[in-house]
Amino acid sequence: MKNILVTGGAGFIGSNFIKYVLSNFDHKVINFDKLTYAGNLENLADIESDERYKFVKGDICEKKEVEKAVEENNIDTIVNFAAESHVDRSILGAKEFINTNVMGTHVLLEVLKEKKLEKYLQVSTDEVYGSLPEDKKELLFTEKTPVTTNSPYSASKASADLLCNAFYHTFNLPILITRCSNNYGPYQFPEKLIPLMIAKTLNGEKLPVYGDGKNVRDWLYVDDHCSAIMEVLNKGRIGEVYNIGGNNEWYNIDIVKLILKKLGKGEDMIQYVKDRPGHDRRYAIDSSKIMNELGWSPKYDFETGIETTVKWYLENESWWRKVMSGEYQKYFESNYANKLI
Ligand code: NAD
Ligand code: TYD
Repeated sequence: MKNILVTGGAGFIGSNFIKYVLSNFDHKVINFDKLTYAGNLENLADIESDERYKFVKGDICEKKEVEKAVEENNIDTIVNFAAESHVDRSILGAKEFINTNVMGTHVLLEVLKEKKLEKYLQVSTDEVYGSLPEDKKELLFTEKTPVTTNSPYSASKASADLLCNAFYHTFNLPILITRCSNNYGPYQFPEKLIPLMIAKTLNGEKLPVYGDGKNVRDWLYVDDHCSAIMEVLNKGRIGEVYNIGGNNEWYNIDIVKLILKKLGKGEDMIQYVKDRPGHDRRYAIDSSKIMNELGWSPKYDFETGIETTVKWYLENESWWRKVMSGEYQKYFESNYANKLI
C-alpha cells in the first residue's frame, strides 16, 4: 500500500487518475491542489467520502505547504499532474506556466530529495517533442526524439522534464517521466478542443476551427492514460521516459465533424478562424516502449471513448455550464477576439 501525493488532482486527468487508483488499488491518495480555474472538487464528489482519500488545498510553488502535506500524510510517492495546461493561455501570458510548471516542479524535486521519498512520477506531454511533418506519416515521436518546443506551454513542460532528468542523474533520485498524447474524456475543461466543440454545439454557437483544420493530434481516452501511469509507477525503470499514446491520429476538422454528427447538427456550424500562433502541425506517439517493456496497451477504442465522452457532456450540462461562467468568459473573449474572421 502506497501513500500517494497526487498534485493537481482536482483537474481533468488528476481527478480521473484518483478515481482509477481508488477503484483498482488499495493505496491512500492525498489530492494536493491549488484550485485554479481548472481545479474543481466537484470532479471528485463521488469519492470524497472514501476514507483512503483526502484533499489538501496547496500550491506546489510553496515548499512549506508541500513539506507539510508530505509529513502529515506519510507520503512515499508523488505523482505530479499540477500544471497550467492550455497552450492558448500560455500564448496570452507565460508567467504562470513558468511558475507552476517549472518552479513548482523544482519545489517537488527538492522535497523528494530532502524527504528521501520512494518514487516521483512527472506527468509530461508529447508536446515537448515539437511538431512532426504531416507528409511523413511513418515518423512518430519516440523517447529519443529531441526536445523541441514551440509554445510557452511546451517549453515549460520540457524545462520541468529536464530538471527531473538532472535530479535523477545528479542526486540519484527515483524519478520517472511519462509523455502522453492528447487526452479526452469526462471532466475535461471546455477550453480544450473536444469538450469546447461539444459545449458550443449544444449552445448552438459557431465552432472555431484554427487555420485549415488539418492539424493532427493523437487522441487517447483518459482512463488509458491513468492505467499507463500506474504501470510506469509500478514497473517502470527509474530514470526512464515512457511515451503513452493511442495510435489514433485525427485531423482536427474530422474530430469537429464527428462531434457534430454525433449531436445531430450540420457542418454549417463550423467557422474557420485565424490560426493559433506557432501552431504545431502534427503530434503522433510511438508507444512501443511502454507496450513491449511494461505490457501496457489502451483499452478504449476511439469510437467507444468518444461516445462515452459525448454522452457524459450531455448528461452533465450543469457541470460544464458552471465552469464556463465567470473567469472563463474573460479568457474566451481575449483568446478568440483576434482570431474570429
Ligand atoms: P488541468 O488544467 O485540467 O488541471 C490542472 C490541475 O492543476 C488543476 O486542478 C489546477 O488547480 C492544478 N494546479 C495548477 N497550478 C497548481 C499549483 N501551483 N499547485 C497545485 N495545483 C495546481 O490539466 P490536465 O489536462 O488534467 O493535465 C494534467 C497534467 O497532464 C498536466 O501536467 C499536463 O501538462 C499533462 N498532460 C495533459 C494532457 C492533456 O491532453 N490534457 C496530455 C498530456 C499531458
Ligand atoms: P487543444 O485541445 O488546445 O490541445 P493541444 O493544443 O494541447 O494539442 O487543441 C487541440 C487541437 O485543436 C489543436 O491543434 C488546436 C485545435 N483547436 C481549434 O482548432 N480550435 C479551438 O478552439 C481549440 C481550443 C483548439
